Amino acid sequence: MDVPTSSSLRLLALFSLVACSIVFVLAAQSEPGKRARKVLIAHRGASAYAPENTLPAYRLAMKQGADFVEQDLQITRDGVLVCLHDLTLERTTNVEEVFPDRFREVERDGRKVREWPVSDFTVEEISRLDAGSWFAPQFKGTQVPTWDQAIAEIKGKAGLFPETKAPEVYGSRGFEMEHLVLATLRRNGLDKPGADLATPVMIQSFSPASLRKLRQELGCLLPLVLLVDKPDEMLSQAGLKQVAGFARGLGPSKRLLAQDPGLVKRAHEAGLTVTSWTFRTAAEMQEYLFNYGVDALFTDNPDLFPRVKED
Ligand code: G3P
Ligand code: CA
Repeated sequence: MDVPTSSSLRLLALFSLVACSIVFVLAAQSEPGKRARKVLIAHRGASAYAPENTLPAYRLAMKQGADFVEQDLQITRDGVLVCLHDLTLERTTNVEEVFPDRFREVERDGRKVREWPVSDFTVEEISRLDAGSWFAPQFKGTQVPTWDQAIAEIKGKAGLFPETKAPEVYGSRGFEMEHLVLATLRRNGLDKPGADLATPVMIQSFSPASLRKLRQELGCLLPLVLLVDKPDEMLSQAGLKQVAGFARGLGPSKRLLAQDPGLVKRAHEAGLTVTSWTFRTAAEMQEYLFNYGVDALFTDNPDLFPRVKED
């Protein structure tokens, strides 16, 4: 049996101290009134510098100090969660070259356009696509990651902040996104709060129904964040109390907060954290973190996130 050396014991003590600090900070974050540390979420990774929702963007986000890395989730024809913002593949991959005939013609704003829906392709077919060249030539050959691949890359180094994208659309195509999300987290040992202290998980959605399903039907106890981008009755004092019945936080767009700055106070009074999106300059992040008083924000530029208030 190996006997621990004094340097390995010192290393272990240091690791325990760091782990305890992360737990303390995250616990404080979730308690209204104790919101000292602002939280940095890398929006689709460090997506100002690398192709969004790819492993290079996620790696760079962690290198730039992200507390959480966001993944937008879509579902393939064979029921695998992959990381991609759009429901269709043509904006961020070379699907038109690889599968020229596999489009659907749909009408958008009175015009007929061709689309390649993620759910028409198997995960193996999607793995053949280049999701990097559209962004810059040096990312040629970068793949669309499965969510499992993203988790493997991030686990132990930062938190995960997945978004259930268009769960109702996928529901109409025979998929239950919330079930797939929880099954993936369970497979990776991350489905319970505090399961891996180095990898906190929060789930976000624009769909209240999706979050209610996670919490009330599927018994998910992970913190949930409801995204909002328009004025709505549910943002009244009474409405926010109802939101607090199934979510830990509110995720208003920065535009919505600019129209209704009192929303931060109302949300805090209802016991909700406030996480706004999407930020690209240090000055704007300063404004929202320290003047509007949001707790966390999504940014494409994690390197510009201001950890402290500028005087
Ligand atoms: O999830 C927060 C923010 O990312 C929502 O907007 O369109 O970038 O997913 P979107
Ligand atoms: Ca998102």
